Amino acid sequence: MDVIRTNSLTKTYDGKGGISDISLSIGEGTIYGFLGPNGSGKSTFVRTLLGLLKPTSGEGFILGEPIGSIKSREQAGYLPELFRYPDWLTGKQLLERHAELCKIPVRQRKTRIEEVVELVGMSGREKGKIGGFSKGMAQRIGLACAILNDPKVIFLDEPTSALDPIGRKDVRDLMVYLRDQGKTVFLNSHLLHEVESVCDNVSIIHEGDMIAQGPWRELMQIEAQIEIITDYPEDIPWPAFVSHSRKLGQHGTRTTWNIQFGDELDIPRIIYYLSERRISVYEVRQITPHLEDVFLHWVNRKKENSYVGNH
Ligand SMILES: Nc1ncnc2c1ncn2[C@@H]1O[C@H](COP(=O)(O)OP(=O)(O)OP(=O)(O)O)[C@@H](O)[C@H]1O
Ligand SMILES: [Mg+2]
Repeated sequence: MDVIRTNSLTKTYDGKGGISDISLSIGEGTIYGFLGPNGSGKSTFVRTLLGLLKPTSGEGFILGEPIGSIKSREQAGYLPELFRYPDWLTGKQLLERHAELCKIPVRQRKTRIEEVVELVGMSGREKGKIGGFSKGMAQRIGLACAILNDPKVIFLDEPTSALDPIGRKDVRDLMVYLRDQGKTVFLNSHLLHEVESVCDNVSIIHEGDMIAQGPWRELMQIEAQIEIITDYPEDIPWPAFVSHSRKLGQHGTRTTWNIQFGDELDIPRIIYYLSERRISVYEVRQITPHLEDVFLHWVNRKKENSYVGNH
């Protein structure tokens, strides 16, 4: 069964902003990356799935239960983006209150709290007041709250925004640990390197619209890219099969280009094309895309299309 499923889920704020027509399905035991620039609708989507916002139209389910229902909420853990916990509570007291709210049986509370505190790397520090916590410590306690109830699906909205590199690595390890336990982790982020190292499947959204979806490595296979260094200083009239070309720089007599095309077989064609024009090629380097390239590619593509559509 799908752990998260939405059909054309739409949430706008008085007709503006938000998200429109988002459809996806996510299985169990996975870390799913939900990517988009600031203001693209990531938090709106998660808050709608959690029943904190009412959908404008469309539908969504968590483990088969309609979003907004108590049953769907019981299965979900959530680390909000801009969380603020009462300063006067200690980390432990906060977790105890959460345990009460989640109706964790009294006899299990102590052990469970110790477990999650350990998992988020806060052992020994949970007795301090939240008011005295650094941002990173507060974020860790927030994570502990999100997983306290041993939920099957965990929504993390920018979980590492306050963390240093060690903290980020800890959170990555925690996500992998949860995934290996069969949980589904839904990760909102614009930290692409972070997403790249833990997620296989992603959605990319832009201005509320889904612009690409799938295994991120495959999202880029439509085009291959190379960097090429020539001794030709002028602009090169690239052949038609080159879909994009960008001059990266010029150092002395060497010019570096980034070129994109549809097929790997086009690499020898480009070299042949240049040598026919007596342009010497000094280096050809095939570029394997990073998630950042995939992201920018789809965002730019959407911008180009909407430009064409508007004029
Ligand atoms: N409460 C609200 N009232 C009106 N508009 C809102 C509200 N919340 C969000 N929006 C608008 O909806 C759009 C999406 O916002 P959202 O916070 O979901 O984006 P985001 O992708 O989470 O951004 P960020 O990366 O900055 O966290 C934005 O245009 C925003 O201005
Ligand atoms: Mg957000």
